Amino acid sequence: MNIFHLSMECYPVAKVGGLADVVGALPKYQNKIKGIKASVVMPWYNKKFIYENEFETVFDGFIHQGEDMLQVIVYKELKSTLGFDLYLVKIPGLLDRENPYGYKDESYQFLAFQHGVLHWLSAMQIRPDVLHCHDYHTGLVPFMIQNCPSFEFLKGVKTIGTIHNGEYQGQMRWDMAKYMPWFDSYQWGLLDWDGYINPLAAMMKCCSAFNAVSQGYMDELYQNLRGLESLVQAEHAKAFGIINGIDTEVWDPETDAYLEHHYTVKTAGEGKFKNKKAICEEYNLNPDLPLVGFIGRFAGEKGADLLPDIVWKSIQQTYGALNIIILGSGETHVENRLLELNYTYTNLGLELGYREPLSHQIYAGADFLIMPSRVEPCGLNQMYAMRYGTVPIVRYIGGLKDTVEDISTGGAGILFNDATVDDAVNAIHRALSIYHHPGLMDELINSNMNFNFSWVKSAENYVNLYQQ
Ligand code: ADP
Ligand code: GLC
Repeated sequence: MNIFHLSMECYPVAKVGGLADVVGALPKYQNKIKGIKASVVMPWYNKKFIYENEFETVFDGFIHQGEDMLQVIVYKELKSTLGFDLYLVKIPGLLDRENPYGYKDESYQFLAFQHGVLHWLSAMQIRPDVLHCHDYHTGLVPFMIQNCPSFEFLKGVKTIGTIHNGEYQGQMRWDMAKYMPWFDSYQWGLLDWDGYINPLAAMMKCCSAFNAVSQGYMDELYQNLRGLESLVQAEHAKAFGIINGIDTEVWDPETDAYLEHHYTVKTAGEGKFKNKKAICEEYNLNPDLPLVGFIGRFAGEKGADLLPDIVWKSIQQTYGALNIIILGSGETHVENRLLELNYTYTNLGLELGYREPLSHQIYAGADFLIMPSRVEPCGLNQMYAMRYGTVPIVRYIGGLKDTVEDISTGGAGILFNDATVDDAVNAIHRALSIYHHPGLMDELINSNMNFNFSWVKSAENYVNLYQQ
């Protein structure tokens, strides 16, 4: 069975968040299953990585978007180094940019990617068994292959749509329809939601099946999907929940190239402390105090706006008996408030920006990792933390509640109910009381590191879904 994953991100080529980690790992684990050949198709970005590997040109052609003519070049990695075949789609002027997102014409850019991929496959007569579309950026593919005569060759190919984040749906005005490959206007209803072209809605209407990245999040979508709830209800027969795994080969405290001090379950006590000391030296923190970390985008979904108050309240209430380290960037008011707090409190370490190595060092060196998310479709951070023996403090929501169990019910994490400062700070108090019972802390480190996060089961679940 031949599967093509279509995505805007894939680790290590281009990563903004968890989507990249998933697309960089799932196909690799699927390829370990007999009879499966999974490949990744993504845009070409103007990143150094691309020049360091050898690629061959497998296609060079043109598409028409409205009146515009765009060149589409497809490169394939010559020697697959990632555990799957990697195809990069270059469209000069559109898909040769620095970043996946953030451009004014991104709807047009995503359209061009989808259009370009389908044009290449049709022109080269490549007919995969499944096109696996990740998030709304590739959500128009199921519609296009069913309804656009130019892709007649692909008609009937099965499509899976994975919702990594339903907060973003890619709505665009109807005048963008002129850039779509031609289709009959009586099909407009398949694209429309509330007077806009809604790629996420179109994906759910037109795909063979769709899934959310945890069952917990899937259940929540029936009640809350930013206006698409009734669509989830109507399409419930096609809706599934499949939890993400993590790539335990990349995320391994025993071999992690970003760590100076490696450790295993057996040596975790000492190993973690050495990593903690290294971070504390760098950020002028006291390694003898418990260290709580946060890593992520400063966005409402992540509850990042709560962070400044969580920081000062927990420092005040404990009379400075803990340290907090924060790595992330995003909303300016959050960044500014954290900068002020960083100036006032020596208990806060702050790094604004995206730093892959530091993220690994925090997973390894922190005692706890906090996630006060308002929405969390799966969340990988808590699993990375657990894999590195760091106790997760997470809100009871989406994928977090599917992967973390509270210590009071036999689990090895700390859960709290509401995305409020008080609930989060209370959870930190619980964490500190655990920290002061060294025996208990060791037990939790042990259980977390032994948790089964592997992709093996979930990769199989996806294959079962393809087979259905
Ligand atoms: P999301 O995709 O919604 O941002 P996930 O928990 O699925 O959340 O994945 C986030 C991924 O991005 C993890 O690999 C995490 O370590 C990484 N990450 C997030 N912010 C940063 C940052 N500032 N620096 C380095 N890595 C980060
Ligand atoms: C999204 C979600 C996150 C999930 C990731 C990978 O970015 O916000 O919860 O882990 O996708 O599926």
